Amino acid sequence: MAFAITQTCCADASCVSVCPVNCIHPAPGEPDFGSTGMLYIDPQACIDCGACADACPVDAIFPVASLTEQLKPYADINASYYDGKSTSDGDPGPNFHAWGEPVFDRAIPAGFAPLDVAVVGTGPAGMYAVEDLLSHTNSRVTLIDRLPVAGGLVRHGVAPDHTSTRKIGETFARFHHHPRLRLRLGVEVGTDISAAELAARHDAVIYAVGASSPRDLGVPGEDLPGSLAATTVVGWYNGHPDVPADAVDLAAERVVLVGNGNVALDVARILTMDPAELANTRISPDALERLRSSKVREVVVLGRRGPEDAAYTGPELLGLAGRHDVDLVVDEHDDRIGQAIDTAARGDKAALLRGVRREAVDWTAPPPHGQRRIVLRFHSAPRAFTGDTQVRGLRVTGGEDVEIAAGRVIRAVGHRGAPVGDLRFDERTGTIPHTGGRVAPGTYVVGWIKRGPSGGIGANRTCARETVGALLDDAIAGRLPRRRRGGVVRRALRR
Ligand SMILES: Cc1cc2nc3c(=O)[nH]c(=O)nc-3n(C[C@H](O)[C@H](O)[C@H](O)COP(=O)(O)OP(=O)(O)OC[C@H]3O[C@@H](n4cnc5c(N)ncnc54)[C@H](O)[C@@H]3O)c2cc1C
Ligand SMILES: NC(=O)c1ccc[n+]([C@@H]2O[C@H](COP(=O)([O-])OP(=O)(O)OC[C@H]3O[C@@H](n4cnc5c(N)ncnc54)[C@H](OP(=O)(O)O)[C@@H]3O)[C@@H](O)[C@H]2O)c1
Repeated sequence: MAFAITQTCCADASCVSVCPVNCIHPAPGEPDFGSTGMLYIDPQACIDCGACADACPVDAIFPVASLTEQLKPYADINASYYDGKSTSDGDPGPNFHAWGEPVFDRAIPAGFAPLDVAVVGTGPAGMYAVEDLLSHTNSRVTLIDRLPVAGGLVRHGVAPDHTSTRKIGETFARFHHHPRLRLRLGVEVGTDISAAELAARHDAVIYAVGASSPRDLGVPGEDLPGSLAATTVVGWYNGHPDVPADAVDLAAERVVLVGNGNVALDVARILTMDPAELANTRISPDALERLRSSKVREVVVLGRRGPEDAAYTGPELLGLAGRHDVDLVVDEHDDRIGQAIDTAARGDKAALLRGVRREAVDWTAPPPHGQRRIVLRFHSAPRAFTGDTQVRGLRVTGGEDVEIAAGRVIRAVGHRGAPVGDLRFDERTGTIPHTGGRVAPGTYVVGWIKRGPSGGIGANRTCARETVGALLDDAIAGRLPRRRRGGVVRRALRR
């Protein structure tokens, strides 16, 4: 028997660091790390000790023998990652590459004076940086967030039904009470306090401010009533303080989602699932009430490319395909779609759709009655919103132009960072320019504001490691600017 990693894997590699036989890959430092969406246990090398399951912050690891019906495919998904790579069968095969040893230690000179570091942002990137600083150095940390509630997207992004994933918030929150940490909520850097003032009070400042503004689509009609950004819908169901409780109304029978990343799948799932299942989650009570009286019967998820290039990750698609309260359908409007699905190799993204029903959907007909459904439509780029005073539909192209009648269109086409005070900002990428996390000695970035808006929670752990490493290098080399002391900042941070 072996253990297997399943759907909610956050890929932060906590499991890698405790595995005594190094059988979990890709590990930090290996070529695929950060690009596979999840980590995999080699069933041939696993010694079944369970250390990984104990260390997993999101309860994603189980013995293969006890996998539930819905999670059973993960035994094969874990094993197939090692096809042709296994180090334990004597014949390494064509895809073999030597596994690296995970590297997690950090060394600073003994007797080094404590640093005062401000970390701006309480999302995963900020918290991995905090964890690294508090666990491996004697630094004192001031942790700041503009919102009155800590957690960043773990609190206000991760879908409410992903209860295991949201548990990682508890792991992060342990550090809020660390004796060397001061938590300052409701303080916005750039508004309540300037970046210069913050720098003056600390040896170093790490910006972990994320990139949670919606990207624009740039097609006509995008601003019509009935066109919503996914950030609004996500903020609405997660009770984000910036989003009004009545921001989303669900009076339309068909909703179109533009983009087929994991955020689109989250929104499609929440809009179609049985509200009773959401009742015991942290969903906003107002959103739950509206979902109970929702008119939505169909959600159409549009991808501008084919099923082989869908932006969602395999575990999220499998989670949707395994639901019993929602029908999942692929709109087979183009020969390329069936072909890509039928010819995909095991492990390829398109192969995940092999068991999913396919039909050529008639977009002139209303959504069918009966169980709610999610339609995946590929090779369909948005051209224009239709409607004069309210969205009536979306014209899409990709082969022939088609108008999909829909009372709501949700744009889930990714995110963008926003400038912070007068820190340099790259308008093209929506990030703060840096080298290895260093903006300048004393100023650092981590997470989505550093790398751009992609990657799950765990990807921020190695990112934080690099940033904290740059900070410590500067500290040890004596490159940090000298700190000035002043009352203004102390007052702002006391709020
Ligand atoms: C809708 C959604 C769902 C997701 N679900 C999952 C999932 O299920 N699993 C998974 O692995 N990944 C998920 N992700 C990805 C994951 O959330 C990100 O990888 C991660 O949150 C990025 O971390 P961050 O710390 O850079 O940014 P954030 O989490 O956005 O944190 C940034 C923090 O900075 C604060 N802040 C911003 N500006 C200022 C300022 N000027 N002053 C003070 N504070 C400020 C914000 O209030 C926020 O708390 C999801 C992403 C989204 C958008
Ligand atoms: N594990 C989880 O449960 C989870 C949940 C939510 C989010 N996340 C992570 O958070 C990150 C952000 O997710 P996301 O869904 O916001 O972003 P994303 O993965 O980048 O997906 C964005 C989608 O928008 C499409 N798109 C972009 N511009 C477009 C345009 N002009 N016209 C049409 N389509 C357009 C993209 O198509 P192309 O691919 O063709 O560019 C893609 O399908 C991802 O790394 C994601 O995995 C993880």
